[in-house]
Amino acid sequence: MTAPTAAPSLARYRDEFPIFRHTTYLNSCSLGALSLRARAATEEYLDAWERRGASAWYDTWLPALERLRAGYGRAVNAQAAEISLHPSISSALSTVAESLDYSARPKIVTTSLDFPTVAYQWLAKRHQGVEVVVVESPDQTTVPLELLAAAIDERTALVATSHVFFTSGAIQDIAALSALAHANGALLLVDGYQAAGQVPVDVGTLGVDFYCAGGLKWLLGGSGIAFLYVQQDLIQRLTPSITGWFAHANPFRFDPRELERAADAHRFDMGTPAVASVSAQLAGLGMLEEIGWSAIRQATRALTEDLIAQAVEHGLRPKVAANPADRSAIVMLPREDPQTDVRRLAESGFVVDARPGHVRVSPYFYNVPEDHRACLEQLARG
Ligand SMILES: Cc1ncc(COP(=O)(O)O)c(C=O)c1O
Repeated sequence: MTAPTAAPSLARYRDEFPIFRHTTYLNSCSLGALSLRARAATEEYLDAWERRGASAWYDTWLPALERLRAGYGRAVNAQAAEISLHPSISSALSTVAESLDYSARPKIVTTSLDFPTVAYQWLAKRHQGVEVVVVESPDQTTVPLELLAAAIDERTALVATSHVFFTSGAIQDIAALSALAHANGALLLVDGYQAAGQVPVDVGTLGVDFYCAGGLKWLLGGSGIAFLYVQQDLIQRLTPSITGWFAHANPFRFDPRELERAADAHRFDMGTPAVASVSAQLAGLGMLEEIGWSAIRQATRALTEDLIAQAVEHGLRPKVAANPADRSAIVMLPREDPQTDVRRLAESGFVVDARPGHVRVSPYFYNVPEDHRACLEQLARG
């Protein structure tokens, strides 16, 4: 089976991911595979903790946080000063939810294909008069711009939606959505957890006000580390009503009488970040930058098309965006009993995932077409 899009194979990186020694891993949209580099960086953190204790903070760990801000910034083409660090996407979203004024604009527009933690931030504020409008997807794959346009108006504070839908892998036209939101005076927040890494991201070209992503999936940093990008002109106009000492202009002043907010995106930080996760994430980002964002997209796009083509050959009807340019490496295979499929595959050494009515398969640059062939054959065996 040849990939329809000619792309350089990045399978040479596969040896850096020990999971492939015993498992066919096709579930990067749940959790990116652990690399030798990320393990080594985490062990370095543990060694420093063991040898040096708190003395490692000033010359090693605090600078690592700033290096990570810069690295996340480069990953989405933003400045380090526009990046706030968080332990999860939910935490990043909650600082935004606590920064907006809902008095004249009580409405938040999101979609039925977005990860629900997005809507939850604002559903939790219904008692404050916040209204959440969930725009439905007619095909469970994409949400037409016209439907979003009909929902966004002068009462809308924020449009909050995904760059890549976790439910279908479809890539949204964020630049068009940005124009729509801004024409109505609303802000745009994009949950890029399923995009950053596998799809090149340029927050300036996309025209977003907020963008969040993190290590768990395509940025190969594991759990416990995420970020929020806030467009620089917006930073000082917002004053989140949840905060922490890392958001202070000078956290080491230790003055409980006055909260002087940082002038840059530190303003949206909370408390002490998980340094083990920061270490793993720096290593993961280092590998991705070494490969290059467009090379990753090219390789991953070719793998996606290969997976779709092979699935069709097996008589399956993958639920993906109609236009290949709008597809990403999350391929939904409709199945009657996906839980049983996933369990059986796991017993044979294949890691994929189940979502209602579907087996979800997500390759990344470290996969090869042979992984798809073997997985689909095993699935067909039942
Ligand atoms: C698109 C998307 N957003 C958010 C989340 C959840 O983020 P967190 O658990 O970091 O709050 C997920 C799932 O893992 C996701 O796929």
